Amino acid sequence: MAKSTDPTRRDVLKTAGAVTAAAAAARVTSPAIRKVRAANNQVTYALIGTGSRGQYLLNHLSKIDTGRCVAVCDVYEPNLKKGAATIGGNPRMYSDHRQLLDKEKVDAVLIATPLYEHFRITRDALLAGKHVFCEKSLVFKPEEIHALRKLAGERPKQILQVGLQRRYSQFYQTAKQMIDKGLLGKVTHVNAQWNRNPGWVMKPDPVRQKELNWRLFRQYSGGAAAELASHQVDVADWMFGSRPEFVSGVGGLDFSKDGRDVFDNIQLILKYPKGQKMMYQAISTNRHLTLFGGSRTEFGEIIMGTEGTLEITVGKDNEPAIALWFVEPGPAKPTSAADKKEAAAIASASLTAAAAGSRGLPIMVSRDLVTGSDSFLKRELKFARLWMYRKGIMMPREDQNPVDTQLEAFLDATRTGKKPLADIELGLADSTMVILSNLAMDEGRRVYFSEIEKMGV
Ligand SMILES: NC(=O)c1ccc[n+]([C@@H]2O[C@H](COP(=O)([O-])OP(=O)(O)OC[C@H]3O[C@@H](n4cnc5c(N)ncnc54)[C@H](O)[C@@H]3O)[C@@H](O)[C@H]2O)c1
Repeated sequence: MAKSTDPTRRDVLKTAGAVTAAAAAARVTSPAIRKVRAANNQVTYALIGTGSRGQYLLNHLSKIDTGRCVAVCDVYEPNLKKGAATIGGNPRMYSDHRQLLDKEKVDAVLIATPLYEHFRITRDALLAGKHVFCEKSLVFKPEEIHALRKLAGERPKQILQVGLQRRYSQFYQTAKQMIDKGLLGKVTHVNAQWNRNPGWVMKPDPVRQKELNWRLFRQYSGGAAAELASHQVDVADWMFGSRPEFVSGVGGLDFSKDGRDVFDNIQLILKYPKGQKMMYQAISTNRHLTLFGGSRTEFGEIIMGTEGTLEITVGKDNEPAIALWFVEPGPAKPTSAADKKEAAAIASASLTAAAAGSRGLPIMVSRDLVTGSDSFLKRELKFARLWMYRKGIMMPREDQNPVDTQLEAFLDATRTGKKPLADIELGLADSTMVILSNLAMDEGRRVYFSEIEKMGV
């Protein structure tokens, strides 16, 4: 008899065990502590680069009371004003980050400028003694990797956190814990895509053409590898627990003939130690996504192990994250009396799906967990909710957007000195991947990650 692909109640409880720990890890401070800080000891910060992402971050920061934005900076006045309006409270406005760093006695600086300016501003902020949160991808050029590692190494008391928010997601943390507990067996492959249709569109502007469309020009941008793959290859690194050995790839500028010079479609294969591989795609002519029963488009990752699969995505402001777990069909395993009892329990809780194996079990968050102290009614309600998750009627939600979690964690770390989950080493590894993936596609060869040590020195 083939092994059932339907997770047993015991599997559900195992996931529950993993998620409990993840929920605890995701919680950075208790609300009580946050309140005390809000009253007496807010972290003061400035945000540099108040464009699209900067305004998004300011909007989220405006709801976090452990910190207070006292200044904003942007070289483009309309965005500067929008940034100031988004955070409110009349922050002082600057067009040059060096003046801001000279004049403002802030604890921390958040940087959301285009990639080519990340290093210069991060370096100046660190030298000015500030804690730094910088958006991904952390740096642009090989020499910046070496220089930033050295500089940050000389300043161990200053926090340097990177905007890789999946690291702060309860779902992704749970996925990692499921892997560590062996629930997926041996994880051998990760597939990911971030496909769009249309992709980035060139915005017309006779004066600021390149600045406005910086993502489309190699002078300023690492293209799709930097803007999209950076998040998802970091997920593969995390789930495999290692960094790639080499990368091969094919990139093309085939469909967007509008003056840009970055690829409009890329395909990468990254080889990890122990034979693990990541396959990656970002195209701009079709956004179909085969994951999550076709309920989403564009982006997601598949984490494949010998015992199971996870389909996972971080979601957007208007679309929650999803994480589905599929048990791998395989040879029959001896069924113990305990397993038979579990199966009976599942049937009574209506958890067995009609189409076994065709639907994944959503990863749960803390509020869904059945605990020993639950009343009979509460426990039944939780099982009812699980049943609805299982049927696709309802999906579990993370307690909060990981962007909020990462920002809270950053502000908190400036006080506690706690090493960020998305720290400098992770950011530099991510930037290395971007630089070497682009090199592999440009030169049409296999590029080894060890090559970075000789580049830019
Ligand atoms: N973590 C994520 O999910 C995520 C999402 C989107 C963007 N990002 C990152 O955020 C960064 C910004 O992206 P964006 O979409 O907001 O770009 P954007 O072009 O909308 O905004 C960039 C802003 O920086 C300003 N700027 C440029 N040079 C500057 C300088 N020297 N000093 C001060 N301001 C300067 C520009 O005038 C502009 O307002 C990029 O690194 C991008 O990869 C991260």
